[in-house]
Amino acid sequence: IGQSIFYRETVDSTQKVALLLSQDKAPEGTLVVADEQTAGRGRMDRKWHSPKGTGIWMSLLLRPNIPPQKAPQLTLLAAVAVATAIEEAAGITPEIKWPNDLLVEGKKITGILTELQAESDRIHSVIIGIGMNVNQKIGDFPEELKDIATSVAMETGSEASRSKIIREFCAQFEKLYLMYLEKGFYPIKLLWESYAKGIGGRMRARTYNGVIEGRALGITDDGVLEIEGDGGKVHLI
Ligand code: BTN
Repeated sequence: IGQSIFYRETVDSTQKVALLLSQDKAPEGTLVVADEQTAGRGRMDRKWHSPKGTGIWMSLLLRPNIPPQKAPQLTLLAAVAVATAIEEAAGITPEIKWPNDLLVEGKKITGILTELQAESDRIHSVIIGIGMNVNQKIGDFPEELKDIATSVAMETGSEASRSKIIREFCAQFEKLYLMYLEKGFYPIKLLWESYAKGIGGRMRARTYNGVIEGRALGITDDGVLEIEGDGGKVHLI
């Protein structure tokens, strides 16, 4: 993981660059890192604020030999790798909020976006995009993010090394990924649950079909969240 790193000063989105590289036969573990994104994308078609020099904007290309419906497991694996990397590199422990937001005291420090290219039963590539707020100060966030976002530096009170966090992330991801390929999802699920917030409690989740509310039961072995709502159990991907 991270044996081959494509660093670019400015890109529209590292997801897009990684997709092009994947079509160009780039190997598994290729990492695209940018200093700035002009069209950073978040989940649910949202924009992702990615200003120059303060965050980690990166996309990791994987080519796992697993069925496409298991791809969500890799998002959870990535969330554990990021949480552990922040812990090791900066000494703070983020919480994971389903499915893949990392929060510190309720404020978002990292978001993850997974995109899958698959054909019938075969995965061509999985691209895991990670956006981490590292050295932003409160005044650096736009008004609408001020109350809901934080950064590593805001939490620790000192500037952090982005390259150190990226190296730590690659090491953690590689360790977890090898464990996953060898032993399956179960050990990852346990780690994920140890960082997770809100399992057992009530939660609201927004889906493409609207909002559902219920009790979060946990994650299934496929890596999807199970919620018990009024209408019965619902699985959220
Ligand atoms: C989210 O929380 O909505 C996910 C945000 C993912 C942002 C990252 S930044 C690097 C990669 N490139 C993008 O355009 N998006 C992801």
